[in-house]
Amino acid sequence: MHARTGHRPTTALKGLLVATVAALGILAATAGAAPAADPPADGALMGRARELFKPLPATLPVVRNNAVTREKIDLGKMLFFDPRLSASGIFSCNSCHNLGLGGVDGLETSVGHGWQKGPRNAPTVLNAVLNVAQFWDGRAEDLKAQAKGPIQAGVEMNSTPDRVMAVLNSIPAYQAKFADAFPNEKNPVTFDNVAMAIEAFEATLTTPAAPFDQYLEGKADALTDTQKAGLELFIDKGCAGCHNGVNVGGHDYFPFGVVTKPGAEILPPGDKGRFAVTKTADDEYVFRAPTLRNVALTAPYFHSGKVWDLRQAVAVMGSSQLGATLSDQEIDRITAFLTALTGQQPRVDYPLLPASTPATPQPVFK
Ligand code: HEC
Ligand code: HEC
Repeated sequence: MHARTGHRPTTALKGLLVATVAALGILAATAGAAPAADPPADGALMGRARELFKPLPATLPVVRNNAVTREKIDLGKMLFFDPRLSASGIFSCNSCHNLGLGGVDGLETSVGHGWQKGPRNAPTVLNAVLNVAQFWDGRAEDLKAQAKGPIQAGVEMNSTPDRVMAVLNSIPAYQAKFADAFPNEKNPVTFDNVAMAIEAFEATLTTPAAPFDQYLEGKADALTDTQKAGLELFIDKGCAGCHNGVNVGGHDYFPFGVVTKPGAEILPPGDKGRFAVTKTADDEYVFRAPTLRNVALTAPYFHSGKVWDLRQAVAVMGSSQLGATLSDQEIDRITAFLTALTGQQPRVDYPLLPASTPATPQPVFK
């Protein structure tokens, strides 16, 4: 894992952020105050939304440095669900990124090897391929770099590349699958290729056709009136300053607490976020603004997982990021809008995994 470089530094933004967010609100308000009823209010809102967001295409996204093939996706799916990638034989990627549960585990912070509680809430794998970089602090530049992390993390799967190779090489059906997925390679069973295959599968885990996507594509009645009012607030209040684009977030880093730092019960002082990656004082408590797609499915919220109610998460964002105390009605409307970001969940047939052999390393629990 390594820090992402070449990305526009967020640090420079920190001081300007409040002003920037405010300016965005003003611009948005100006645009919204178009005279008279032509274009109609609804068309104006749709136009403003289209400038800030993009519908999620139903096609497979392009993955950098990894040609995605059917064979790679199939292999990656098996690996995603195979608990033998963990030392205990208990944890698969799906344990903490359950595809029946919106790609998360629904825990405050994840529980892994030896019942250990990890330090952060598990973000969803759904649409993760669209994020600028992976993890709450962006420390893995893409999904192939990311996938090697949890396999080796002591509090997650606690395995090693050597052990994973021993497991896969002990199972002839896996050797054949790797040969199919990486046809031109002499030794296709490698730890790098495990990561490549998992990345290819994860690229299929997008959730198109949310009501909001349909709205962006021109279907005005895809959102309820309350959701439209929520969308308008989401833009006017400045939420869209950080959560925008095709993934409604996921593309840049911001301090958690731009205006008011949340209390230790929501923002535990020990986790300084991106500071650990860049070692820049300005990056203390800076985190990637997460995608808000499917957010209604992925409680609890924030990297600390301390907030279980989406309405409360919206209220916290209002005060911490915008210095705004949102009214109950505003919170209800914005939350209603966020539920319109739930897209079509990927239908995944549970893969049949080939049996272990006497040569397969046995599970270890310590
Ligand atoms: C024990 C639970 C656990 C297991 C097992 C696990 N993860 Fe995770 N995953 C997490 C947590 C917690 C994070 C956030 C860590 C952080 O940001 O520091 C995370 C982050 C991620 C992310 C980043 C998403 C984003 O939006 O930044 C991806 C992708 C991911 N995991 C995929 C996988 C894959 C693939 C596997 C299997 C090889 C896996 N995970 C196994 C808990 C787990
Ligand atoms: C200045 C940038 C910024 C603004 C403005 C902003 N957010 Fe956020 N948002 C973030 C960051 C950064 C996080 C991650 C915080 C953390 O957990 O460390 C986040 C997290 C969230 C989460 C939790 C998602 C999850 O999966 O845990 C929700 C919900 C959310 N924001 C909604 C909103 C809403 C609604 C608004 C407007 C009222 C808003 N945000 C304004 C940057 C911003």
